[in-house]
Amino acid sequence: MSVAPIDYLFNRRSVKHVQAPGPSDEHLAQILRAAMSAPDHGRLRPWRFTLIRGQAVQQLGELAIGSIKRAGLPLTTQKEASTRDWLQKVPLLVALACRMDTSNTKIPEDERMLATGAAVTNMLNAAHMLGYGAYWSTGLGTYVEEVTEALGYDALEYRFMGYLAIGTPIAPSEAPERPDYRDFVTEWTGK
Ligand SMILES: Cc1cc2nc3c(=O)[nH]c(=O)nc-3n(C[C@H](O)[C@H](O)[C@H](O)COP(=O)(O)O)c2cc1C
Repeated sequence: MSVAPIDYLFNRRSVKHVQAPGPSDEHLAQILRAAMSAPDHGRLRPWRFTLIRGQAVQQLGELAIGSIKRAGLPLTTQKEASTRDWLQKVPLLVALACRMDTSNTKIPEDERMLATGAAVTNMLNAAHMLGYGAYWSTGLGTYVEEVTEALGYDALEYRFMGYLAIGTPIAPSEAPERPDYRDFVTEWTGK
């Protein structure tokens, strides 16, 4: 039985625990291409992505753990161990950054972040539609400058926005319960 396109959106859920295989080259291209369809005021294309695959995933994990400690941020031994366990199986991380070039002053800075967030959401949905599990994390030293600089993002020019982990779900999961949209919607009928 085929799934209606709208049902993919209704049924998407984040899947943190994924394993190989990660997306094929063709599927990865489709996931990244989906990001390019995000709404983007002024066509600034602020989103930037860095692929981290295979052994580099574990290296990123070690870099993040070390940098968090060097920055004096809290990290329990339990969290450190669970991070290593998680990353050991993750076949692909996509590091997410937003270029904060403000030369186009007509467009507020926040809108660059919103466009990048929309691009990432498109990637989450595309990964889900292709049968992968995907999860957006702002752990792994997202807010530690040493990490983002090591990934090649100058903190003066880019806002680092975390990572997408993408792969094959380790365990099956049900479509999640979602709130009733009516609790979030009002109508303004004029004065
Ligand atoms: C920008 C952003 C950053 C996030 N960072 C984390 C994170 O670091 N750790 C975490 O447990 N969940 C994080 N989440 C939440 C998960 O990605 C996910 O959305 C949440 O678990 C709810 O699952 P759902 O997407 O299926 O509703 C983040 C979500 C967003 C939008």
